[in-house]
Amino acid sequence: AHPHFSTDKSFVLAQNGIVENYAELKKKLLKKGYKFTSETDTEVVVRLIEDEYKKTKDLLQAVRLTFLKLEGRNTIIILTNKKNEVIAARNGSPLVVGISPNKQKVYLSSDVLSFAPWVKNAIIVENGQIVHVVDSTIDIFTISSGKKVSYKKEKIKLQSNKVDKEGYKHFMLKEIHESPSVISQLVRQKQELYQSLADHIKKSNQVYCIGSGTAGIAAAQIAFYLRDIAKINAVGLVGADARDYFDLFKKTDLIITPSQSGETADVLEVLEYAKKKSIPIASFVNMPGSMITRMSNFKFMSEAGPEICVMSTKIFVSQIAWGYLVSKTVVGEYEDAVPKLKELSSLMQKYLKNKKTVETIRTLAKNLLRRHDLFLLGKYQNSQIVREGMVKLIEGTYKHAHAIPSGDLKHYAITLMEKGVPVIALLSNDKVRHDVINAIDEVKARGAEVIGVSPANYNNFDFWLPVPETGETQAIMNIIPLQLLAYYLALELGNDIDKPRNIAKSVTVK
Ligand code: G6P
Repeated sequence: AHPHFSTDKSFVLAQNGIVENYAELKKKLLKKGYKFTSETDTEVVVRLIEDEYKKTKDLLQAVRLTFLKLEGRNTIIILTNKKNEVIAARNGSPLVVGISPNKQKVYLSSDVLSFAPWVKNAIIVENGQIVHVVDSTIDIFTISSGKKVSYKKEKIKLQSNKVDKEGYKHFMLKEIHESPSVISQLVRQKQELYQSLADHIKKSNQVYCIGSGTAGIAAAQIAFYLRDIAKINAVGLVGADARDYFDLFKKTDLIITPSQSGETADVLEVLEYAKKKSIPIASFVNMPGSMITRMSNFKFMSEAGPEICVMSTKIFVSQIAWGYLVSKTVVGEYEDAVPKLKELSSLMQKYLKNKKTVETIRTLAKNLLRRHDLFLLGKYQNSQIVREGMVKLIEGTYKHAHAIPSGDLKHYAITLMEKGVPVIALLSNDKVRHDVINAIDEVKARGAEVIGVSPANYNNFDFWLPVPETGETQAIMNIIPLQLLAYYLALELGNDIDKPRNIAKSVTVK
């Protein structure tokens, strides 16, 4: 539906966001005789600009005055019919301006990654600002007052600006293979930063770990590590579902947010509310210059390089490994965690390079190709891992997948167990091992076909997916075979792996 032309074709406009009061604005414009060719809120913005322009005869002012009338999170960009003129205004959705090394070229986008290869410096436009670009001259104004403001150019620091598959068939596979190196990256960050966050966690009344989608599952796993390793009162919340906690937020609490983009609207809304209540925020973000980082008191960067596949893989690994390291730091065991993460990274590397790994997973993918329902079972450290496995399978295969907490199986999902139903069970060498074995026996007794993801084979497995035993970090290791399975299933099915239907990499609108 984008871009939208003005009636006289003097400019085109695109919007990232939603105009919440568009119906009301449209009614007034219709009364004034404006014509609409679509049902979109974006067209309302175009007609409003035209209306303001009639009064001001100045497009920049017309855009500014229009923007003041819009409710909701939105960022708009306008290309005019004058040579090299662009106007863009930000409220909520991200907006960044990139400048080429010879300062001759200017790029406008929602994230620095899109222009990273051609740009050295970027300006992060703040909420409530409007940018006017003519050739290579950039002016920024405050939308409410119309006053010009000075701005800072920031050097773009991406671990790698290269956006290349590097010989892999898909970004997803390349990114899964980068997981061992993103884990090593974590331990290269300053120990003092971990220590200062750990000290704050110890003082906090309640820790809320918040994210959306895969990052929401990572947030829940971070909360798990804080509870299990550090004995901290931590809960995981999904961004869009955190509202019922708002009244409970206190300034003695702490919010921890893992996010790839640092711009997820559902999460930003929670953080904006938390800020009003003076709750400190710690974030672990991959994209430089993001809003979430700028709102944070404790700023961690995953520095994992660009993640291009819409399905998040290496970033999930880095987020949960970070949560493990933070939790170990809280109990004074940073020094113990570092070699454990290094060991994990090297075992993961070997596992990924092993031809047998791929062969086994491809065979399994072929077996599962024609199944409609895929079940996953796990408990304790693996509860969130099976949920993330479910998310990857749903995203990559468009099949129905269902993660069951193994202890809860008997309460409901056991009704679905019948001959030939595939159940992927994560069985690790931990304190709940026997509980999971019981659940496996229960589903097996009803005819389910059990695929065991485990360091050791077990006689009730119909298919064994071996994973290296990595001790305390086992859960981080366990997500890899599930990601690979989603990849090879999607490949067999001929799906668009790097861009699954209907979902987006970053969701900057509610
Ligand atoms: C989208 C993506 C997910 C991601 C989520 C949160 O839904 O498809 O992969 O986990 O947004 O994004 P964030 O940038 O906050 O990690």
